[in-house]
Amino acid sequence: MSKVKKIFAREILDSRGNPTVEVEILTDDEQSAFASVPSGQTTGSKEAVELRDTDADRYDGMGVLKAIENIDKQILPAVVGLDPLSQQELDQTLLDLDKTEHKSVLGANATLAVSLACCRLASQIKKIPLYQYIQQLLGWEQPFSSPTPMFNIINGGQHADNKLSFQEFMAVPTKPTTFKEKVREGTEIYHRLKKILLSQALNTAVGDEGGFSPNISDNEEAIKLILQAGKVNIALDIAGVGNDEISFWQKLMAQYPIIGIEDPLRDDDWQGWQEMTKTFDGKVLLIGDDIFATNPQLLQQGIKEKVANAVIIKPNQIGTLSETLKFIKIAKDANYVMIVSHRSGETEDTFISDLAVGCGAKYIKAGAPARGERVNKYNRLLRIEEELQR
Ligand code: PGA
Ligand code: ZN
Repeated sequence: MSKVKKIFAREILDSRGNPTVEVEILTDDEQSAFASVPSGQTTGSKEAVELRDTDADRYDGMGVLKAIENIDKQILPAVVGLDPLSQQELDQTLLDLDKTEHKSVLGANATLAVSLACCRLASQIKKIPLYQYIQQLLGWEQPFSSPTPMFNIINGGQHADNKLSFQEFMAVPTKPTTFKEKVREGTEIYHRLKKILLSQALNTAVGDEGGFSPNISDNEEAIKLILQAGKVNIALDIAGVGNDEISFWQKLMAQYPIIGIEDPLRDDDWQGWQEMTKTFDGKVLLIGDDIFATNPQLLQQGIKEKVANAVIIKPNQIGTLSETLKFIKIAKDANYVMIVSHRSGETEDTFISDLAVGCGAKYIKAGAPARGERVNKYNRLLRIEEELQR
């Protein structure tokens, strides 16, 4: 049996140039694995705490040295000697150490980095692909399949400095084909969209998730531009700044091929969510991101109260892999459509690609088919698909 011997934790940079946590776990028999954590911009009020230093002299208070100190001084002594194959025991140790509801003592950035690195290390010890090990942790046996990408090709809201109020305008391939073909389709549309924007003298600079951020202010115009670039379905992330009038959404859905609406309402407007679900269930995916925050308890409440019919899965909203897997099991049992998602501040870690295949998520959100930290998620999925076809 391998045992955890050492954890090296360090500050690295995310795609926005903000510090984030990376760890490397080592065993007594010289095996090692790494993981790093992403960071959101429009974080929900129910998310686990991302611990940032208050020291304004370093990175304007965005440093994560405290989270790293917590790994060195608190987490390492508690997990040293543990078998990396005991994921639940490791995650429970983290919860017992922290003791708070939102991981405000250790920081969810500290706990998640250790949790994910442990999982990757265990898959290496077992000599199986990460996605396969994740499926084993879930206790499932279904055949593996690739998720459909939701390409965020126009950015607005807090992810861009234009006037679009909706945060994400996503192109979703329509044909039931391979992941490889869906990537080709999405990428061709992305490139055509750039030409269309240029032809209309619109800005082709990109936002945080690699989508274009043209200087327009009309959300419908953004949808039209995408549809001009290709025959695709549309998914939107409103990030809670939306309209609570049912008729507004009815009109939008009647005009455009919208298959999903994420966070149309604020994360505390449960009643509004219930009404929307009552009206639109069966017609469109009502995707709960900030309202559930990958929190098993909140999802259980949502299911009971008939809120949403699809969920965003972001491990850093909750802070351990085991709690993320618990959330996934609850979502699957209730037949909620699962969408594994990146954050707007990303790293080169592709854990979410394996997570999406391991849990059989129907969709993945990893931004535009552009920028290294976005395409690495899609590229990992291309490799997995090819491996599965061998
Ligand atoms: P965030 O945005 O990572 O900035 O929270 C992504 C989302 O809202 O889905
Ligand atoms: Zn969202």
